[in-house]
Amino acid sequence: MSRLIVVSNRVNPPNPAEGGEGSVGGLAMALAAALREYSGIWFGWSGKTIPEFTGQLNMQRIEGVTVATVDLEETDYQEYYNGYANKTLWPLFHYRVDLTAYDRSFGEGYDRVNRRFAETLAPLIEPDDIVWVHDYHLIPVARELRRMGITNRIGFFLHIPWPAHQLVVTLPRHRQLVEALFDYDLIGFQTEESLQAFEGYVFSEVQGAKNARGELVAFGRRTCAAAFPIGVDAQDFAEIVKSDNARKTYDRMMAHSVFRKMIVGVDRLDYSKGLEERLIGYERFLHDHPDMRREVMLLQVAPISRDEVEAYQDLRGRLDGLIGRINGAYAEMDFTPIRYVNRSYRRDELAGVYRAAKAALVTPLRDGMNLVAKEYVAAQNPDDPGVLILSRFAGAARQMKEALIINPNSPEEISDALERSLSMSQDERKQRWEALFDNVRREDVTAWRDNFVAALRGRPGPDDEGQQE
Ligand code: ADP
Ligand code: G6P
Repeated sequence: MSRLIVVSNRVNPPNPAEGGEGSVGGLAMALAAALREYSGIWFGWSGKTIPEFTGQLNMQRIEGVTVATVDLEETDYQEYYNGYANKTLWPLFHYRVDLTAYDRSFGEGYDRVNRRFAETLAPLIEPDDIVWVHDYHLIPVARELRRMGITNRIGFFLHIPWPAHQLVVTLPRHRQLVEALFDYDLIGFQTEESLQAFEGYVFSEVQGAKNARGELVAFGRRTCAAAFPIGVDAQDFAEIVKSDNARKTYDRMMAHSVFRKMIVGVDRLDYSKGLEERLIGYERFLHDHPDMRREVMLLQVAPISRDEVEAYQDLRGRLDGLIGRINGAYAEMDFTPIRYVNRSYRRDELAGVYRAAKAALVTPLRDGMNLVAKEYVAAQNPDDPGVLILSRFAGAARQMKEALIINPNSPEEISDALERSLSMSQDERKQRWEALFDNVRREDVTAWRDNFVAALRGRPGPDDEGQQE
C-alpha cells in the first residue's frame, strides 16, 4: 500500500504528552483523525520562526503519525502567513473584499514559502507515495514539486469556500493561482456550490472546458475537480463524550446552569463566524422575550486566532464592547446573560460542554463546512438532544437540513430560532437529531478521506497515455 503524505500549513495534532491539546481549527482536527489509520507523513510549518530559513526538518512521532515540520523565517511569516494567506486569500474567499489586502510583497512571500515547502518536502517523497496538499496557504506546492520533476499523484483539498468568479478576478494574479491548481491530479472542494464557482471561473475566464471523461481542461493541462464534504470522527466523539473528563465537565456545566438552559457557541475568534450577528440576535431574543430572560444563558467560547492581523484585533475589541453592552443591559445581581471565554479546551471538555447545551448557535457569514455543527450533534444525548441552529452560509447546511436553518444577517431569525429551540418538544428534538446524527455518522472524516484518496488513486499516473494534453 502506498504511503500518504499530507501537507498543510498548520501541523499540530492533539498530543497526549501535552494533555491532548492540539491546534484549534477544522483542518488540524480533521487531518489528525484522517491520518490515524494511514502510514505516512504529515508535513508542514512548525509554528515557529527563526532569523534565517534553513530548511531543516524536525521529525516527531505523535500518536502513530510521523510529523515533519520546518521553521519559517520572520519575513516569511509576515508576508506568507499573516500577509497573503490571512490578509488576502482568507478574507477574499469569505466574501470580505473590504478586508482584503492586495499587496505585491505578500504574493512574493507566498510564492517563496511554497517553493521552500516543496524543496524541503521533495526528498521525503518515495516513488509510490501519494501526496495530499491542504488549503489556501499551499496552492502552488504542486507546481513547485512538478518543476522539480516529482511525478507522483498529488491532490489538493480546499477547506474554505471557493468564491464567485467576480471576487476571484479582483486578485491581481488570479490566473496564476488557478493555473497552479491544474498541477494537481485532483482538486477537492467542500460543496457543490464551491465546485460550480470554480468551474464557472475556468469556463468563462480562461476558456476552459470539460472533456468527455468529466475532466477540466485548461492551460494545456487537465485535472479533475469534485466536492468531498468533510466530516468529523463521529464515533470517536460519541465515545469521548462518555469519558470521565467529559462527564465531569458536563456535571459542572449542569450545576452552574441548573435553573437555566445553556446555549453554546464555539468558534475561533474570526470575522467569518458571524459572532457579532449572533450576539445581536441573542440581544434581540432577550429584548423580545422578557419572560424567558431568566431561563437562559449563552456560553461563547472563542479562542483568539491570527491576533497579529488588524481585522482580528478590531473584531476582538468590538466583541468586548458588544458583550459589555448586552451584559450591562440584561444582567441581574445573580445572572450574567453571556459568559465569554477566549481560551481553548481539550476535546473531552468541549464534548461535555456541547452535551450540556440545549441549543448551539453556529452562525457563520461564510464557512467552508463548519465542524463545530457536526461535533455538537455527535455529542448529544440521544434521549434528550439539544437543537442545532445553523447558518445557511455554512457548507454544513447542505447536509444538515434538519437543523433550524437561519440567515445570520437577520437578528429576528436568530431570535425566533432561539425561542423555537428552547420550547421544542422532546419528540421533535429527537426526530431532528436522529436524522442529523445519521448524516454526521455516515459522512464522517473517514468517508471523506477514503473517498478523496480513492479518487486520487484512480487518476491516471504519469505513465498512463495521454496524461498531459
Ligand atoms: P474553523 O476550521 O474555521 O476554525 P470549524 O468549525 O470547521 O472552523 O473547526 C473548528 C475546530 O476547532 C473544531 O474541531 C472545534 O472543536 C475546534 N475548536 C474551536 N474552538 C475550540 C476551543 N476553544 N477549544 C478547543 N477546540 C476548539
Ligand atoms: C481554518 C483553515 C485552516 C486553519 C484553521 C486555523 O480551519 O481552513 O487552514 O489551520 O482555520 O487557523 P490558523 O491560521 O491558526 O492555522
